[in-house]
Amino acid sequence: MSTTFDIAESPIEISSVTTSPPPPDNLPAVTVRPAIHDDADDVFDFLEQFVQAGRVLPRTLDELEQLVSTGFVAEMEGQIVGFAALEVYSKKLSEIRSLCVSPAVQGRGVGKKLTQACVELAKERRIFEIMVITSSDEFFRTCGFDFTLPGEKKALFLQTRETP
Ligand SMILES: CC(C)(COP(=O)(O)OP(=O)(O)OC[C@H]1O[C@@H](n2cnc3c(N)ncnc32)[C@H](O)[C@@H]1OP(=O)(O)O)[C@@H](O)C(=O)NCCC(=O)NCCS
Repeated sequence: MSTTFDIAESPIEISSVTTSPPPPDNLPAVTVRPAIHDDADDVFDFLEQFVQAGRVLPRTLDELEQLVSTGFVAEMEGQIVGFAALEVYSKKLSEIRSLCVSPAVQGRGVGKKLTQACVELAKERRIFEIMVITSSDEFFRTCGFDFTLPGEKKALFLQTRETP
C-alpha cells in the first residue's frame, strides 16, 4: 500500500504502511503508517509513560507537532501503540527520536518496523547518516546500526549542560 507523506517542501511517495501479521495468540494486527499533524496530541499522551520512566526525553506539544511531519505511528485497533520520528538536521545528518513501543506489543517486530520506516524516509530524502542516542543499543544493532561508521569512524559527544 502506498501513501503520500507530506514532508518539508515536497510531498514524497513512500510505501511505508506495513501490517504485522496477527501473532499466534490472535492478538489484533499492528499497522505502521506515516504520522499526520492531528496525531500530535495522541502521540504526546502515548509518550508520557516512557518519559515518566526516563526512557525518552520529554517533548512539548509544539515540538511534537513539528516532529510528526517526519514521524510514524504504530496502531492496533485504532489506538497508538508505537511511535518514532526522524529528526532531520541537514542533508548529511538525521536522528531517530522518541522511538517507543507499548509494552503490550513489544517483541512483535513493531520497533523494528518503525525504525525501518525512519531509515526508508532518510534514504528517500538522500540523507547521508542516521544517528540514535539510546540505552537500547542492542535493539538498534538488530536494525543495522553500529557504534562505528564504515572506516571505523566514531561519533564523539560532549554535553554542554545537565538538561536539554
Ligand atoms: C526498544 C523498543 C522500541 C523495542 O521495540 P520492540 O517492538 O519490542 O522491538 P522488536 O520486536 O521490533 O525487536 C526487534 C529486534 O530487537 C530485539 N530487541 C528488542 N528489544 C531488545 C532489547 N531491549 N535488547 C536487546 N534486543 C532487543 C528483538 O529480539 C528483535 O530481534 P530479532 O529481529 O533478531 O528477532 C521497545 O522495547 C521500547 O519501546 N522500549 C522503551 C523505550 C525505549 O527505550 N526506546 C528507545 C529510545 S531511542
